[in-house]
Amino acid sequence: MKGAVALSVLLLAPLARAADVAAVSSPGGVLTVTVSLDGEGRASYRVARRGTAVIGDSRLGFLLTDAPKLERNFTLAAQGRRSADETWEQPWGERRLVRNHYNELRVRLVEKPPQARSLEVVFRLYDDGVGFRYEFPEQASLREVNIGEELTEFDVAEPATAWWIPAGEWNRYEYVYRHTPLAEVSQAHTPITVRTASGLHLAFHEAALVDYSSMWLRRVDGQRLKAQLSPSSQGAKVRRAAPFATPWRTIQIADSAAALYASSDLILNLNEPNALGDVSWVKPMKYVGIWWGMHIGTWTWASGPRHGATTAHAREYIDFAARNGFKGVLIEGWNLGWDGDWFANGETFDFTEPYPDFDLAAVADYARRKGVTLIGHHETSANIAHYEAQLGAALDLDAKLGIASVKTGYVADAGGVKARGDDGHIHFEWHDGQVMSRHHLKVVTEAAKRHITIDAHEPIKDTGLRRTWPNWMTREGARGMEYDAWGDPQNPPNHAATLAFTRMLAGPFDYTPGVLSLTGKDGRPIESTLAKQLANYVVLYSPLQMAADLPENYAKFPGPFQFIKDVPCDWADTLVVNGEVGEFVTFARRDRASDDWYLGSVTDANARTIEVPLDFLADGRGYVAQIYRDAEGAHYQTNRFAITIERRAVKRGDVLSIWLAPGGGAAVRFKPERRSQ
Ligand code: NOJ
Ligand code: CA
Repeated sequence: MKGAVALSVLLLAPLARAADVAAVSSPGGVLTVTVSLDGEGRASYRVARRGTAVIGDSRLGFLLTDAPKLERNFTLAAQGRRSADETWEQPWGERRLVRNHYNELRVRLVEKPPQARSLEVVFRLYDDGVGFRYEFPEQASLREVNIGEELTEFDVAEPATAWWIPAGEWNRYEYVYRHTPLAEVSQAHTPITVRTASGLHLAFHEAALVDYSSMWLRRVDGQRLKAQLSPSSQGAKVRRAAPFATPWRTIQIADSAAALYASSDLILNLNEPNALGDVSWVKPMKYVGIWWGMHIGTWTWASGPRHGATTAHAREYIDFAARNGFKGVLIEGWNLGWDGDWFANGETFDFTEPYPDFDLAAVADYARRKGVTLIGHHETSANIAHYEAQLGAALDLDAKLGIASVKTGYVADAGGVKARGDDGHIHFEWHDGQVMSRHHLKVVTEAAKRHITIDAHEPIKDTGLRRTWPNWMTREGARGMEYDAWGDPQNPPNHAATLAFTRMLAGPFDYTPGVLSLTGKDGRPIESTLAKQLANYVVLYSPLQMAADLPENYAKFPGPFQFIKDVPCDWADTLVVNGEVGEFVTFARRDRASDDWYLGSVTDANARTIEVPLDFLADGRGYVAQIYRDAEGAHYQTNRFAITIERRAVKRGDVLSIWLAPGGGAAVRFKPERRSQ
């Protein structure tokens, strides 16, 4: 759907004489970006919010591997402005309608002779954030662009602290978030979230990471962060032919944690519209799977007496899904290749050959008859050379069997991706370099041709590409529930309240929530309350949302399990009711398929009482609040299963007061009462 589109375009016009400053403000005048050139022709930008500096002068430019750097001797040759205000509809998501309202400034930088190469920088200003990207125009003096490094900086003006995970380390993104002074960050992944002394909340990330290397942020000095592109085995970190545009560099700027989450629409807005046309085949769903059993060690991915993916187990899971309204059943360990050291030997996987004790065709047929779909699983151990050679055949088979969705996996240490280079040899790449940005889109677009959706684990980070390719539904890219099974350490009590304002700013996360047994590998207690397991369904958004526990465990908790059966995973609207990064957060979300509202609230190791004004409920209607809350005395270590499930009649204007236990949470379904006839 297109809403009102107001577009005023001022085409690039050469200036009478070179100007050294260009500026633009956001539609409501909240943010202003100013671009300037210093005496040596180096370009920088700065950002102010209501007249106060947020980002001080920060450089722009590139190092090239086969040509002089693009950074000095620039003149501002031209500038242009443009505005847009449109509303577009998401096929699925956290909200149905998204407003895209910005003012744009485009500057053309041209080097003084003799180089005379040109580079354009485009800034889009929203009232709650800025996006900018470089565009390399077609030009005789710069046809092949081999980028050694991007020189973009972000110099945070006010003293600040940051929530971040390290980049360039052995793991990919699966770290516990650190909270340190910004001046103690070394090298971080994005999104990185920053809170300044005056309470401003910032997040740095990127949008539309296509055929380019991911941007890490390295602290250079003070609070100045600088782009550090993920490495490549091929010398240049990015190899492109002009014309092309880089991903958008994004700075979300809000005055509260809640507003920071809301400002994430910017990531989607900066992506291109849906490229797939009719995507009615892309369906959000909850799923169960042959999965947790392997993570707690009772079953194996490999063949043998404890093989999880047997025909018999699959039928049981399909029956369980059908009985309880889950639309998908994930089956891991179904295919040849898991025996031996699969982590190290991705070349052993066969993506079309099931183990002998798993009758794939019969299982798929059984699922279809029960009205559920299988979710395929392609663990590649990051050997993409091997996977790409089988990709077409594997997806053809999935399509033939009616498999609606495939979970991919790239388990390997960072830097351990095996890819075939232009020379025909295997090279080692990073999970988030240019090679992987291409690989993921290859899988997503090949899957789209066959009407299959993708859930990538050990992925490249989310930069909003779901807008353009809505079948790229979800991914991992952070510490999920599996760390509660075997992680050292397991996820800390403030994990969800941190994720909500860091990783989740990027997009959906296949966290795989809902382990009501609260028990990991070897009987290890999971540090959570029951109510918090339910709250995670509302807090941690994913359009493919798992009920991760074993069916026999759900049978032990019919009360709380009811919420997992009820909660949707596709929303008409999303509100952040309250929250502080890493401490607590409360989300309210409206179901797309009904008038129900859902609420999820989680806290860190501290107990707290949240007051929720029920302003979001429709006026003049009574609702029944089905409340799942920590019972008195509940505690994430000492009294984990204490839950109170109750009903209250509520209406708009009421204030719901709920106590959250240390490490606990609350989940609520608001169901409108039937209107009397
Ligand atoms: C790691 C993934 O995150 C997990 O979900 C999966 O079960 C294993 N890899 C095996 O593929
Ligand atoms: Ca993982």
